[in-house]
Amino acid sequence: MIEWSLEHFGTGVDVIDEQHKELFARVNAVVAVMNWPDGDAEIGATLEYLARYVVTHFVFEEQWMAEHDCPGQEENARGHTRFVARLSTFQHRFDAEGATAEFRSELARFLERWLSNHVEVIDVGNLRQAPDEGPDPDDEATVLLVPGTPS
Ligand SMILES: [Fe+2]
Ligand SMILES: [Fe+2]
Repeated sequence: MIEWSLEHFGTGVDVIDEQHKELFARVNAVVAVMNWPDGDAEIGATLEYLARYVVTHFVFEEQWMAEHDCPGQEENARGHTRFVARLSTFQHRFDAEGATAEFRSELARFLERWLSNHVEVIDVGNLRQAPDEGPDPDDEATVLLVPGTPS
């Protein structure tokens, strides 16, 4: 189970933090049903529920980063594309052979590791220093605050 915390996962963008909390909850829901002995139907349903939300979040976040000129936006988008591809591989494997013990542990490990690592490193790394969040150097009020500028 992964737990969202402001210290590790707070991006400074409230709407994205809320989406990340929802993603963490959906990953935890998938991981929780892994322990059910006959949980195949639940695994299929929670996986699909996660896959749908992931797309909503990724689209929103990529658009936000583009609008705010985040330097790492391409790396972020590449990470999202790879994640979607991996998730769909897991879904195909599940459709073909069901939730074997190996499948359950690999999927749980992949989801928890990928999400916590991507959010903490890529999302936080980019969003906490989004250029538009800082002072605009072309803004007159900002220019007056620069030390050494004659007033
Ligand atoms: Fe991201
Ligand atoms: Fe994100």
